[in-house]
Amino acid sequence: MGALAGQVALITGGGRGIGAETAKQLAQLGATVALVARTREQLEATAQQIRAAGGRAYWFVADVSDEGAMREAVHGTLAITGNIDILVNNAGFIQAVGPIENSDPAEWWRTVEGNLKGLYLTTRLVLPTMLEQGHGQIVNVLSIAGARAFSGLSAYSCAKAAGLMFTRILAKEVRKRGIRVMAILPGAVDTAIWGTGEGVPDREKMIRPSSVAQLIAQMLTTPPDATVDELWVLPREGVL
Ligand SMILES: NC(=O)c1ccc[n+]([C@@H]2O[C@H](COP(=O)([O-])OP(=O)(O)OC[C@H]3O[C@@H](n4cnc5c(N)ncnc54)[C@H](OP(=O)(O)O)[C@@H]3O)[C@@H](O)[C@H]2O)c1
Repeated sequence: MGALAGQVALITGGGRGIGAETAKQLAQLGATVALVARTREQLEATAQQIRAAGGRAYWFVADVSDEGAMREAVHGTLAITGNIDILVNNAGFIQAVGPIENSDPAEWWRTVEGNLKGLYLTTRLVLPTMLEQGHGQIVNVLSIAGARAFSGLSAYSCAKAAGLMFTRILAKEVRKRGIRVMAILPGAVDTAIWGTGEGVPDREKMIRPSSVAQLIAQMLTTPPDATVDELWVLPREGVL
């Protein structure tokens, strides 16, 4: 039996990239996975791959920063599965790239809000179930950019830095009530988030999304008397 047999994992941004790889690996460990993202075709494709491999997967189209849509996704998951044991707050995007002096205020704020609001709202919606159960695990997928300064990434980095503090405060608030709250801070990972524009570091040197997923799976299967807390993961050659 897999290490996560009988458990239910809600994974935001589960349509592609790190989220899709994490869903596949958690399903392989026996978890039932519920995927959330905005692109229906990608959710369907990932869920189909998981089912073809013998796993259980459901999906919900929702923008994580839309409280009503996320409430439906969480309630929909609970209606099917009865519980949520694991939340992987993974949805995120990079926009408003460039120096602060040239930034567009509306785009800058949308980038901060889009990355941070979903983390807060999804957590807020799932917490009551976990607290009632008296157990649960939350992994927030943040970024090395939330802990180190990179020119041109102010909006994304501010959201990720706020996500790190959110993780630390949430851990303090709920760790004595049976909930393990963890953060992973990857460096460059070879996914669509980088787009195709100029200035993208060498993708060959980036971390594979499946490697990040493997580490998230390990965090979620840490013995119950321990927690990984915060995990910084860099490409083998360091920050690219
Ligand atoms: N790749 C890297 O180098 C890297 C490094 C450090 C941290 N991260 C973090 O890792 C996480 C996953 O990124 P990735 O690299 O796997 O990127 P990705 O391939 O672009 O995947 C992002 C996923 O999040 C979903 N998503 C984005 N915004 C959303 C929203 N508002 N509501 C619902 N779903 C949303 C996307 O689907 P839709 O667009 O269909 O909604 C997609 O499924 C992000 O939080 C990112 O910041 C990535």
